[in-house]
Amino acid sequence: MDPKGSLFFPGQSSTIAGEVDALFYFILYLSIFFFVLVTGGSFYFAWKYRKKGKDTFTENISHHTGLEIFWTVVPTILVFIIFVWGFKTYLKMNIPPENALEIKVTAQKWFWSFAYPQGATTTNEITVPLNKPVNLLMSSQDVIHSFYIPGFRVKMDVIPNRYTTLWFQATELGEFDLFCTEYCGKGHSEMLGKVKVVSNEQYDQWLASNTGESDLPPDQWGAELYKSKACFTCHSIDGSPSVGPTFKGVFGRTEKLTDGSSYTVDENYIRKSILEPQAQVVAGFQPVMPTFQGVLKDAEIDALIAYLKTIK
Ligand code: CUA
Repeated sequence: MDPKGSLFFPGQSSTIAGEVDALFYFILYLSIFFFVLVTGGSFYFAWKYRKKGKDTFTENISHHTGLEIFWTVVPTILVFIIFVWGFKTYLKMNIPPENALEIKVTAQKWFWSFAYPQGATTTNEITVPLNKPVNLLMSSQDVIHSFYIPGFRVKMDVIPNRYTTLWFQATELGEFDLFCTEYCGKGHSEMLGKVKVVSNEQYDQWLASNTGESDLPPDQWGAELYKSKACFTCHSIDGSPSVGPTFKGVFGRTEKLTDGSSYTVDENYIRKSILEPQAQVVAGFQPVMPTFQGVLKDAEIDALIAYLKTIK
């Protein structure tokens, strides 16, 4: 294992990372070797067979059977080595162990949500136990996204209307980056997450404590949800323009809607905008907000409303 990382990769933090890197470096060094050989040969022969004088001619060489067999057979063998090696690793990456812990992943513009078998849900942060196989069952609510954890060397497209899977076994404790690697619209570059690898005991504790409730006062809980549920991706709190209307002074503001009518923002408008975002769109904005139906519980929506009231 290589926890430090290199020019090309972050440290190896999953069981498959070493194998992926070994194949990558094999292909890289092979390519460098042949690049030097071919370009070096080209320059050497251009120099060797240059025109040396007015009446000197290079003898006419048509072909060399031995050489042709050599440059056909050797690359064929190399390609087969790469194929067999790659295919073996591919199979390993694609067949999850039977005892794998299954977590449901939902991608939508522009955040990730995770649902654990025991009922816990999180947004943009997935907590997994160390040295245990984890299988992700993934689908998208809207466009194609791609789930990528560089430290684990695993990546898979996340597609609407069908499931894709991805499995890994983390070998290092800590926090790892999670990226969306399929261009999915304006918020793509902010569709970031974290993978938290914790010990087995910590994982069990975390599962038991993650009931979707909070002891915080509603407006403070709402402020946390604004970050953890990725509202900030599209709604600023300082008045700056973004994908959606700013939350600064939103409560009680009268908005012009796309259908020409006006609406004064109250609790009902906020709740409806969270659950049915396309119903009443503020004029000047695209109807691109995803629904949070099933992502946010009623108590969480109440907390968000309490928070929005405080952003003056
Ligand atoms: Cu989701 Cu890019």
